[in-house]
Amino acid sequence: MAIIPDHIIDQVQERVDIVEVVGSYIPLKKAGRNYRAPCPFHHEKTPSFMVSPDKQIFHCFGCGAGGNVFGFLMKYERLEFPEAVRSLAQKAGVVVPSERRESAQEASATSLLYAANELATDFFQRNFKEDKNGRQAYDYLIKRGLTQEMISTFKLGFTSSGRENLLSFARQKGVSPEILEKTGLAIARQSGGYFDRFRNRIMFPIIDMKLRILGFGGRVFLKEDEGPKYMNSPETSIYNKRRHLYGLNFTWKHIRDEDQVIIVEGYLDLIIPLQYGVKNIVASLGTSLTQEQIRFLRRYTKNAVVIFDPDKAGELATLRSLDLLLEEGLSVGVVRLPQGCDPDSFVKKYGPEEFKKRISDAKNLFDYKMSVLLSKYDKTVLEDKAKIVEEMLPIISKVPNAVLKAGYIKNLSDALLIEEDAIWQELKKIRPDYPTTRTKENKGQIKVETRSKKFRQSEKILAGILMDDNKCIKLVREKLCLEEFQDPLIRKIMDILFKCSDQSKKVTPGTLINYLEDSETHSFIPEFVDTLEAVIDRQKTLDDCIVRIKQDNLKEKLNRLQVEIALAQNRDDEERINKLIAECSGLVRSIKAYEGKTKETLQKI
Ligand code: CTP
Ligand code: MN
Repeated sequence: MAIIPDHIIDQVQERVDIVEVVGSYIPLKKAGRNYRAPCPFHHEKTPSFMVSPDKQIFHCFGCGAGGNVFGFLMKYERLEFPEAVRSLAQKAGVVVPSERRESAQEASATSLLYAANELATDFFQRNFKEDKNGRQAYDYLIKRGLTQEMISTFKLGFTSSGRENLLSFARQKGVSPEILEKTGLAIARQSGGYFDRFRNRIMFPIIDMKLRILGFGGRVFLKEDEGPKYMNSPETSIYNKRRHLYGLNFTWKHIRDEDQVIIVEGYLDLIIPLQYGVKNIVASLGTSLTQEQIRFLRRYTKNAVVIFDPDKAGELATLRSLDLLLEEGLSVGVVRLPQGCDPDSFVKKYGPEEFKKRISDAKNLFDYKMSVLLSKYDKTVLEDKAKIVEEMLPIISKVPNAVLKAGYIKNLSDALLIEEDAIWQELKKIRPDYPTTRTKENKGQIKVETRSKKFRQSEKILAGILMDDNKCIKLVREKLCLEEFQDPLIRKIMDILFKCSDQSKKVTPGTLINYLEDSETHSFIPEFVDTLEAVIDRQKTLDDCIVRIKQDNLKEKLNRLQVEIALAQNRDDEERINKLIAECSGLVRSIKAYEGKTKETLQKI
């Protein structure tokens, strides 16, 4: 899609009011200067979702969602940024320059592919009635317990046995073999001509969030010897397997409302439980989850439960594939089904209530992996202990929450009767950037933190003040340069603020977000602004922030110098030691000079 010029984006944002836009989707209640509602992005009883008309941003204190008016639309309507801008531009009467000619062509080529898949789906559905084998395939699905309604909701179908049935049907309807090849439905012969990719198979269309058909999975039906049990469409220009999750188009609302996702493998492992009322479910289609899939899921919930067939559940490789979920900040539960069961057969045999019960009893991934390891290795043998630690460390290291991590390490040390410190040291080896000190806070209840990013208070408050009150930018700029900000996001924000101030461009929290390319960072902006609530004297606080930032940087520099001194001492490098010590005392003097200056305001915030 063509890039929309900045001034158009600004214009759209100036003409719409976030309160009006959000209010057209969910009922807002006035609360002081702001508006409040139950959060549309997670399930809650007491409203913690706020919209600020002054700052033109929204923020949920519960789930951390936040952003400007475009971000709201992107999240609520699941739009890409340009789509959100276009949609609001239309409402605001702003004309967005039309797209490049090539991209209009591209768009029409793409829509041809969707149309071809749509046509093929129709044809496959018809075969249930019109083809002899197709009628049998339909009866087979009914015998497996699917209702007519589910068969049609999921647009299941059948490909008959001829080598060119779809090709000739499509040709009659004006769809060329070249287009069918581009959708993956036909394969070109080396000798020229084409043949149907899928024959004699029950067809499962892969449907995306916008209800378009991206590709197909085909299950063998008649002859078990005709190729693999499932045959799938290849990757095409419209089907990106790394991004797609089967069934999510039907289930995302339930996943969001129940704040939990059940992840299964197969087509029928999704359809059958769904039919029985287990609705917060998606299928990975037999491959391990990708980072893109997980990030997409994370929009709806941070709680995942993975269901394993018993034969796969004991394999360490299977368990390792779940590490990515942890790494992306989800909490992971694991359910192992009884021998011979998959979710499809389990629900039919024991009913949905029992299935839900197993899910609520899911073991967390840590405990589950521990129990698998303890059954494989002997924890009284020293070498086995080391193996267990080695397997557990990657999952522990991927837990973003420090408190949770410390808790896991404690559990591991208790289970194996080894010193916690030994585990911390091993952890440091696989992730050298981790601090070896452990938090002392892990005594009380362990809670999953929704977000893990920590900013320096002084940088955060300073950024918050400047984006809310542009007059102060000049003053800060005279005293601090970009390199003095340690956090990369804050440095980026300062860069934007400085540049806008140079061009005398006004920035608000709501417009600042448009300059941040990484949309993952957008929800931090409302957080910066929220800290301002506690600020009474902005001028004084700003001065204190500047001093504190300088002081912290000096202290860090001092720390680094001390390490260097230790290294020089090891080498007995007298000359270097003296030089470093002189530098050190200079630093200490500067730090002292700042001391006492920042006491009042920052401590209160
Ligand atoms: N799969 C695949 N290719 C294969 C085998 C499996 O893509 N050759 C994927 C399919 O998405 C399938 C899932 O892995 O749905 C799980 O495979 P399996 O358990 O073998 O099949 P089921 O879905 O249980 O199918 P059925 O119950 O009809 O046997
Ligand atoms: Mn099955």
